[in-house]
Amino acid sequence: MNEDLIKYAEQFTSDESPVLQELRRECYEHYADSSMLSGFVQGRVLAMFSKMIRPKVVLEIGTYLGYSALCFAEGLADGGKVITLDIQEDTNKVARSFVDKTQYKDKIQFHLGNAVDVIPTLPETFDLVFIDADKPNYSNYFDLVIDRVRPGGFIIADNVLWSGKVLLDEKDESTQALHDFNQKVLADSRVSNVLFPIRDGLMVMNKL
Ligand SMILES: C[S@@+](CC[C@H](N)C(=O)[O-])C[C@H]1O[C@@H](n2cnc3c(N)ncnc32)[C@H](O)[C@@H]1O
Repeated sequence: MNEDLIKYAEQFTSDESPVLQELRRECYEHYADSSMLSGFVQGRVLAMFSKMIRPKVVLEIGTYLGYSALCFAEGLADGGKVITLDIQEDTNKVARSFVDKTQYKDKIQFHLGNAVDVIPTLPETFDLVFIDADKPNYSNYFDLVIDRVRPGGFIIADNVLWSGKVLLDEKDESTQALHDFNQKVLADSRVSNVLFPIRDGLMVMNKL
């Protein structure tokens, strides 16, 4: 989207909390891979989805600095929790330190490890799953969670447009994996889906 329109959308979107502002600032100033963090408008979209769904259990695959986990926490039902998974210890420490500053510190559970190994060990059923870790595994993540999402629940996958590279004839591994994932979701009769062209593309799936 044109830069001026992005700025306009930011200007006319309700503000985030001071902790989320601080977290984004920390990320942009100190992390080379700051584009991994959901940006301001996308963060508000995720918080808005969560407030609409009112999930009891959110599973997030890909914590990074905890930004999106905190956005999902805003919409939790009473007694609800966000379970967030990541493989990187250093960023996980930073995520925990930011979450500890918030009212959600007892509602966000961190797991460190490879998501493919951790997901099968979780006993919960999920109301909302956010897939936002290694792209070649998106289809595996979908397969691992689909039977664990309650009927009527949602799965959201980030980066499904992959900076527009899904349109290229020659696709690298991640691009091909994301394109295959998009085709798989569309063909799966267990979900209905909308690909929202927000930021890098959000695939939103509703389990039937
Ligand atoms: C795009 S970032 C997540 C951003 C975060 N959801 C947000 O919006 O603020 C992706 C994260 O996935 C993690 N990751 C990559 N491969 C993983 C794996 N196999 N299992 C768990 N986490 C993984 C990375 O360490 C990284 O922190």
